[in-house]
Amino acid sequence: MGQTAGPGTPAPGAGAPAGPDGTFDAVAAGLYDPSRRRVDYLRISITDRCNERCVYCMPQGLQDWKEREEILTFEEILSVVRLAVRLGFRKFRVTGGEPLVRRDAGDFLRRLGAIEGVQSLGLSTNGTLLAPLAEEIRAAGVQSINISLDTLEAESYRRLTRWDLSSCLEGIAAARRAGFPSLKLNAVLMRGVNDGQIVPLIRFAREQGAVLRFIELMPVSSLEVLTRENFLPVEEAMTRIREVMSLEPAEVRLGHGPAIYYRTGEGGIIGFIGAMTNLHFCESCNKVRLTADGRIRPCLGSHLEFDLRTALRSGQGEAAVEEVFRAAIGLKPAEHEFRDQYRPGRSMTAIGG
Ligand code: GTP
Ligand code: 5AD
Ligand code: SF4
Repeated sequence: MGQTAGPGTPAPGAGAPAGPDGTFDAVAAGLYDPSRRRVDYLRISITDRCNERCVYCMPQGLQDWKEREEILTFEEILSVVRLAVRLGFRKFRVTGGEPLVRRDAGDFLRRLGAIEGVQSLGLSTNGTLLAPLAEEIRAAGVQSINISLDTLEAESYRRLTRWDLSSCLEGIAAARRAGFPSLKLNAVLMRGVNDGQIVPLIRFAREQGAVLRFIELMPVSSLEVLTRENFLPVEEAMTRIREVMSLEPAEVRLGHGPAIYYRTGEGGIIGFIGAMTNLHFCESCNKVRLTADGRIRPCLGSHLEFDLRTALRSGQGEAAVEEVFRAAIGLKPAEHEFRDQYRPGRSMTAIGG
């Protein structure tokens, strides 16, 4: 890599780190987007498939799975990660679809965790297939595990996901036993669907020693799920929580995502991901996404994607792949477009939440 600043690298003198000989060190500087945000977090979707059918994620009846050849092989993903580390990425999170439906996901995580420079490795899962794999995944070097759990009522869990609550709870129990340094539970807020579960979820998470996050519903997969009626802003969830227990800013930073954390009067820590209502939500964004079919998506809430797979399979070597990374980061939007009548292009499963 050259020593000059190109798209994606800060201009020398703009507070950028110096190398051992005092010259501008582009690698140490990492990659910066046009809004001067350092991008060092790569979320990797390893499959667009999922065993569940969450209403807010999968347009009902969706069946347009990618063909196997369209999906990056594990070898290809690992080569992308090695390059990403050289470009300054340090934090990696594996997602889906449901990542654990892909065969040999545990072995893949072990190989990913062993790459030098991968400082932080997380997994986001629906938890239902986790129980038998939790030990292996922990041993693979995964430090942080985020599990979706929108309700503790078996009936509504089934309605929301078309799967069994018990398998998710077993996954959570197995994650606890495996001793992940960070265990988080994600609940998407939906008025009239799970708003009665806000306090029960807080208490459950605390009992489990987990950090619960409430996420605003985003129009990522289909517009039908996000209506004026069922959208529940995090502010309102906070008001409802304060009717039962106090809530004070926790002044902690957990993980690498956009959540803001609070401490409850009952002793737990909960996070809020206010993607739709927090006007400053995107200011500290540090990530890009690698989709299961090999595109770099610089923002969840923008249709912009860059074709990494063609570069990867072109036989033109790393330079071509690096070019795609730089182009994607060089055009990373300053903020998402969810507030502007955004129309989803493809389902969250393909993008990787
Ligand atoms: P950690 O904070 O490191 O634990 O990870 P994370 O919050 O990035 O990961 P997780 O997979 O648990 O994501 C939680 C939710 O936050 C998901 O619904 C994501 O779609 C949402 N989210 C994470 N990053 C972004 C982002 O950059 N933009 C938007 N709009 N949503 C995001
Ligand atoms: N809005 C908000 N969060 C969503 N997730 C999936 N679809 C949506 C959506 N439309 C969340 C899941 C999971 C995380 C990775 O993404 O609940 O916890
Ligand atoms: Fe599957 Fe996760 Fe999407 Fe639900 S949110 S359908 S568990 S990928």
